[in-house]
Amino acid sequence: MIPADDASTLSLLYHINSEPWDNAEAYKEAQDYEVEYKEMAGPGDALKLPAPAASPFMRLLQARESCRDYRLCPMPAQVLSNILASASGVTRTQHLDGIGGIYLRTAPSAGGLFPLEIYALAREVEGAADGLYHYNVRRHGLELLKAGGWFAELDHALLMAPLVQGANLILFLSAIFARSQKKYGPRGYRYITLEAGHVAQNVCLSAIEQGLGSLCMGGYLDGRLNGFLGLDGIQEAVVYSLAVGYRDLHHN
Ligand SMILES: Cc1cc2nc3c(=O)[nH]c(=O)nc-3n(C[C@H](O)[C@H](O)[C@H](O)COP(=O)(O)O)c2cc1C
Repeated sequence: MIPADDASTLSLLYHINSEPWDNAEAYKEAQDYEVEYKEMAGPGDALKLPAPAASPFMRLLQARESCRDYRLCPMPAQVLSNILASASGVTRTQHLDGIGGIYLRTAPSAGGLFPLEIYALAREVEGAADGLYHYNVRRHGLELLKAGGWFAELDHALLMAPLVQGANLILFLSAIFARSQKKYGPRGYRYITLEAGHVAQNVCLSAIEQGLGSLCMGGYLDGRLNGFLGLDGIQEAVVYSLAVGYRDLHHN
C-alpha cells in the first residue's frame, strides 16, 4: 500500500510503466475504430451557434495540422527564437511573498511552479551549431549540451524518426516532477502532463504562424530518450516531444 501522503511513488510507477504499448493487435484494430461523438439533444434540437468569427488567431488554429514530411533547409535563428518564446518564453515577472520574483510565461502553470524544461535538437539553424541544446528561459538563450548531428541517434528512441528526418528541430519537453509534486503531491503529475499540452500547442501555433509544420510525438522509448538527453528518468524525464520544420509540400 502506498501511503496517501507519498507525493510521487504512485505517479512514478505509472510513468515508468507506460512505455509505448507493445500490442500490435490494438494498433491494427485502431485502423477500424470510428471516432465517437457524444450527442445529447435530438437532431435539430441543439442550440445553433453563429459561425466562428474570422480572425488571425482562428486562421492559425484552422491551419494547424500534423506534418509528417519535412524538407531540410536553413532556418533563421529568429524562427527558433519565436518558437521557444512562444513555447515558454517569459511574459512578465511577479513578486510573491516567500518566493520572491517569479517569471511568468506564455503558458499557464499550476501554482506558478513551472515543472517543464525544453531541450532542442537543432540542425541547420543559422548561427547555431547543429546539436542538442537546453533552453534557458530567463536569458531566452540556448545552452549547448552536445554538438554534432545527433539526429541519427534518435532512430533508436523516437518511433517517428523516419517521418521527421527533414525537420530542423526536435523539441523535448521534460518535467522535473518534484517542482509540482512538492505542492500538489500525486495530482501534480496530472498538472505536469496538462502543462506539456499547453506548451506543445503554443509550439504548433508558432510554427504554423511562421509557415512551418509541426508534429506532436508521444511515440518514443522513454528509457532511450532520457539516456540521450542525459536525464535520469526519475527526478527529470521526457514527457512530450515535437518536430518542427519546413513542410515538404510535394508530399503533403
Ligand atoms: C499526445 C499526442 C501524441 C501524438 N503522438 C503522435 C505520434 O507519436 N506519432 C504521430 O505520427 N502523430 C502523433 N500525434 C498526432 C496525432 O496523430 C494527430 O494530432 C491527429 O491524428 C489529428 O491530426 P492533426 O494533428 O493533423 O489535426 C500525437 C498527438 C497527440 C496529441
